[in-house]
Amino acid sequence: MIDRIPLILDVDTGIDDALALALAVHTPAAELIAVTTLAGNVGVERTTANTLAVLDWLGATDVPVHRGASRPLARAPRDAAYFHDVDGLGGAKLPSSRRGVGADRGPAAIVRLASARPGELTLVCVGPLTNLAIALNVEPALPTLLRELVVMGGAFNVPGNVTPHAEFNIFADPDAAAQVLSTAFTRLTVVGLDVTQETALPRSVWEAAGSMGTAHPTARLVAEVCRQAFVERGLASVYLHDPLAVAAALAPSLLLVEETAVEVLREGTEEGATRASGAGSVRVAHGVDAERFLQLFTETLSLSGSTKGSL
Ligand code: BDR
Ligand code: CA
Repeated sequence: MIDRIPLILDVDTGIDDALALALAVHTPAAELIAVTTLAGNVGVERTTANTLAVLDWLGATDVPVHRGASRPLARAPRDAAYFHDVDGLGGAKLPSSRRGVGADRGPAAIVRLASARPGELTLVCVGPLTNLAIALNVEPALPTLLRELVVMGGAFNVPGNVTPHAEFNIFADPDAAAQVLSTAFTRLTVVGLDVTQETALPRSVWEAAGSMGTAHPTARLVAEVCRQAFVERGLASVYLHDPLAVAAALAPSLLLVEETAVEVLREGTEEGATRASGAGSVRVAHGVDAERFLQLFTETLSLSGSTKGSL
């Protein structure tokens, strides 16, 4: 019996967030204990409704969802509806969830859960870092209460995806990102565009998911949330940014990392840029075994004909 890694996932669901939720729900290596939501790809009411709908669709109706930050720490919201659509899920039609959100808000839930199991939990943040920055302000001991923090964000040696310099999750709340990425966590791994843009869902896997029929809810989720990207935008593949962050928490050997300090630029034309800036302990990913990751992803979601997850 393998020990399962207890995870909290902080999301702004979002197409690839939905795929990250599916990976976390299905992998035997993870125990998804809670999901926190926040504004990012779209507003927090929408990301929360999407998160509940995705979890329910996957049968994970017992995973509590805690609504979090409705806006960045100190700036006007910036969303990514231009990619994820105004509904955040690329036009996918999932039944609305009938259950409610948890009693405490996202940052409070992170503090409560980490305090109850000191040194055990891994927090994976795949949206802007607002919830975590608030949680750090509320509980300064949080960095050592967590076993590991994995962040999907940043662009170190590649161009950004919002501006030539900035990746979306960092650009959406650079103040929160600067705070989080300069905090000394027990272990902090940053999974940026340098590696996530090496990992994409090929059209062939999406087509296969679409042909698996209605009896396979996970395949249907993949088929629905990626449809707009493949059909209307004509993309050849869809980046698996957020699923890679989940996989990195469970199988760290997927990544090559370099330990460094990280600077986040908060103003000017390079606002939202991330830079390695000298000696430090942030594990910034610069390489990924993309083939192994895609195999793990497709097997865990049973998209490859295999029914057994490998993570
Ligand atoms: C990140 O930005 C969001 O749009 C995606 O969900 C992902 O978390 C990629 O830059
Ligand atoms: Ca996201």
